[in-house]
Order: sequence, then structure tokens, then C-alpha cells
Amino acid sequence: MFKNINILDEKDKRLRKISEEVTILSKEEKQLIKDIIKFLTYSQIEKLAEKYDLRPGMGLAFPQVAISKRVIIIVYEYEEGKFDNYVVINPKIISHSEELIAADTGEGCLSVNRDVEGHVPRFARVTVEGYDEDGNKIHIRSREELSIAFQHEIDHLNGILFYDRINKKKPFITDGSIRLI
Ligand code: NI
Repeated sequence: MFKNINILDEKDKRLRKISEEVTILSKEEKQLIKDIIKFLTYSQIEKLAEKYDLRPGMGLAFPQVAISKRVIIIVYEYEEGKFDNYVVINPKIISHSEELIAADTGEGCLSVNRDVEGHVPRFARVTVEGYDEDGNKIHIRSREELSIAFQHEIDHLNGILFYDRINKKKPFITDGSIRLI
């Protein structure tokens, strides 16, 4: 199971490239998207994560599976045991809040197999524009944790890893300038 999902490690230089805009997705890539959704869903269900030895993750971007194309996939548990899937092709943040937030426990990434401590400043709300797998234009409004996920995954398309955004001198934001969630 999930043998076709090989996630690159942070040391791999391919993660640092700017991914290409997508014009067309192959049959294999569309299948891979389905498999990634299943993988991310299972990884967030404790029993299944254990069974298949999966590290929990809520998102993945194509460059993480060595495909330099602008595709992101997010599986968001909006309620206990209930998941929403987001697949966005050529995603763009078209507007965002002034307000900044950060996950209090920091962020994780399926390409980073270690704990990196520190707050990652993110917009509290973002509106993402892009295309679905059939080429239809889509708009998604997101806030809080989901907003963080979109920003994290879109960063991957631009070769950015979450810890690039942690202030090295002052990794924890304690002055109230950013709301911690
Ligand atoms: Ni990541």
C-alpha cells in the first residue's frame, strides 16, 4: 500500500526548485492524487496510521513526490473523523488577512523527519484561487489551521520549507504580535 508515494527528504535539492505551472495532468498523475488523498486520510486516522506505519500529515505538494508541478493536496479533518479534501492546481493566494497567526506547537512536514521548534508566521485567513482536476476555476476561503496548511503547501511550490520562515534568533513569538493557535 502507498508504494507509489515516495516522499523526498528535506535534504533533496528538488524540494528547493520553483515548480512549473500545470497545463495538463496525466492519467498517472490523476491516480497519484487519489492515492495521496487516501494516504493523507489514513495517516490522520490513528488505527490506520498504525497499521500502515504512516506519519500523520494533512497536506502534500507535488514537488514532495518529485514532480515539479504546481499541485497541492490537503486533507483537513474539520470534525472528528470527518475530512474535506482540497486539490488545487496552480494555486495562488489572491487575498489575505492583515492578521497573522502561528501554530503554537509549530509546524511539521512529511519531508522533514525531525521536530523543528519555533513559530511560523502565517496569515490568519487566505483566499486561494486555482483549478480543480477537471480544469474548472475554483476559489477557496480558508482560516486558521486550514489557512496555515494552504500557505505551507503553496510554499513547497516555490521551494520554501516551513522552517525558512522561523526567526532563527527568536524562534518563539511571545510579544503578542501574532496570535497563537
Ligand atoms: Ni510540507
